Amino acid sequence: MRFPLTSFITVLLLSVSAMALNVARTDTADKKPPHPKVCDPNAKGKDLEKRQYDAVADFADLFLFKQDVRAAFDKYVPGEYIQHNPFAEQGRDFAIEVLTGGVASGIVSTNLTFFVGNGYGLMHYKSVFMNTTYAIVDYFRFKGTCIVEHWDVLQEITGDEPNPIAFF
Ligand SMILES: *[C@@H]1O[C@H](CO)[C@@H](O)[C@H](O)[C@H]1NC(C)=O
Ligand SMILES: *[C@@H]1O[C@H](CO)[C@@H](O)[C@H](O)[C@H]1NC(C)=O
Repeated sequence: MRFPLTSFITVLLLSVSAMALNVARTDTADKKPPHPKVCDPNAKGKDLEKRQYDAVADFADLFLFKQDVRAAFDKYVPGEYIQHNPFAEQGRDFAIEVLTGGVASGIVSTNLTFFVGNGYGLMHYKSVFMNTTYAIVDYFRFKGTCIVEHWDVLQEITGDEPNPIAFF
């Protein structure tokens, strides 16, 4: 099979532009002070669980309360993101796009509890989205202090539940 020269040049130009873009990005990134809480996939040691706890705390704050989805993902989901949500595509880009859209249309989250253990982190919280209230659990698998895998479970809250302490 012959590969047309024009396609080859297009691919080459795209690669060169991508390289230029990467260099430009690195230059910009270098000028910013390093953030102490950017995750480390190779983190080890006896304080790892404490650092994973801090990671979930900061991720939850950025995502649920500051509602800066990109900052949350750039710090704690920098690469691989195995996704088990039944309606999502794999990878962090899809999650960022959908969650940013959700935040833009108005979400209010409260009642967060979270914990970490055995290399996993879990958050349980209430979110009101499009006039519907949910109890949500997100749980994550860590590699070092980076989040690399995600599961979630949603329950709709109607307000008519017979249990007076339903959900929270
Ligand atoms: C849930 O959050 C609301 C609003 O912050 C608060 O008033 C309520 O007490 C919380 N409920 C529980 C069970 O913590
Ligand atoms: C939410 O409820 C308000 C007030 O009842 C209504 O005006 C609005 O259209 C509803 N929004 C959605 C997305 O259902």
